[in-house]
Amino acid sequence: MKPLSSPLPITALFFCLHIIPTLSSADYDASTTETNTTDFIRTSCSVTLYPDVCYTSLSGYANATEQDPARLARIAIGVSLSKARHMAAYISNLSRAADYGADPRASAALHDCFSNMGDTVEEIRGSLNQMRQLVAPGSESFRFQMENVQTWMSAALTDEDTCTDGFEDVADGPMKTEVCERMEKVKELTSNALALVNSYAEKGTN
Ligand SMILES: *[C@@H]1O[C@H](CO)[C@@H](O)[C@H](O)[C@H]1NC(C)=O
Ligand SMILES: *[C@@H]1O[C@H](CO)[C@@H](O)[C@H](O)[C@H]1NC(C)=O
Ligand SMILES: *[C@@H]1O[C@H](CO)[C@@H](O)[C@H](O)[C@H]1NC(C)=O
Repeated sequence: MKPLSSPLPITALFFCLHIIPTLSSADYDASTTETNTTDFIRTSCSVTLYPDVCYTSLSGYANATEQDPARLARIAIGVSLSKARHMAAYISNLSRAADYGADPRASAALHDCFSNMGDTVEEIRGSLNQMRQLVAPGSESFRFQMENVQTWMSAALTDEDTCTDGFEDVADGPMKTEVCERMEKVKELTSNALALVNSYAEKGTN
């Protein structure tokens, strides 16, 4: 996959990140540390399109973030990967069931969606691997790595959209509604992870 030629746009809210105090010593009591870490996640999530979803999905990893935006982005990618994998398994189940059903359009849409979700999972997995190998911010290699992650996470989001679009001609019903609702949640997590990546990339290449 080719890297993006230009970084994706970020919102002005990103600049809030500059005012986050960093944890300089370990001698805060646990509850104080936890409060600050919670604030860190909340503030970081303000750059995303779905800040509440962002906060809820990441607050359980508060300690693991170590108030580090790179770790936070990596964890968000991991959360979106796990959700995408689960969605792929769910679609696979539905598509097997649809093979014995009476609606060829539904069956075709599910098969295409399963293929899209396979690509999505690969793209998010590649992003996570890249985040695990990140070099220090500021270098040309860092920029290259971040562009890869931005490209792959954007592609993952596009593939998720493609899945939902494929259901346009499928008759309305509980299966279609369920797939679209579940996919919306997957898309929100992918979008949030991408926003955190963009925010960190912007910070590290300035
Ligand atoms: C953590 O929060 C406490 C209470 O709000 C504050 O006094 C302290 O300076 C914070 N520490 C850091 C490192 O942000
Ligand atoms: C986070 O770390 C604090 C201090 O080390 C600890 O007391 C707390 O139980 C940890 N919270 C979680 C959810 O692991
Ligand atoms: C897929 O089907 C298997 C077997 O019926 C079931 O155990 C599993 O929970 C299903 N997975 C999802 C994501 O629905």
